[in-house]
Amino acid sequence: MSWEPRELTEPLCRVEDLPDARSVGFDPLGEGRDTMFVVRKGAQVHAWRNLCPHYDRARMAWKKNEFLNGDHSRIMCAAHGALFRIEDGVCEIGPCIGARLTPVPVDIRGGALWIVGPYAPGFRR
Ligand code: FES
Repeated sequence: MSWEPRELTEPLCRVEDLPDARSVGFDPLGEGRDTMFVVRKGAQVHAWRNLCPHYDRARMAWKKNEFLNGDHSRIMCAAHGALFRIEDGVCEIGPCIGARLTPVPVDIRGGALWIVGPYAPGFRR
């Protein structure tokens, strides 16, 4: 497997297949784990790398597709409970207040969700 960033030739999914106010993990390069996730809020879709800024390279979900807190109002890192705003990825509560998740540029084209530009593999080989 190449570790160079590359352009994807397929969309991540159809937006209509994303449940509202929920998170879904994706493995765009087939690395065997979710290296990013998206959160849909109505017509908006926010996308982030699965890397917690508190602890370098920490994965955030406590199980598949579970990147949100209990009331689905914030993104939560399962490791130490940091809570991040869904809209801009900034940590509001927890051990890394003010730190920000790494955004993944995405675009909706024809109802499909695409990553914009090259996508780099995750850091764990
Ligand atoms: S690694 Fe995410 S809050 Fe500590």
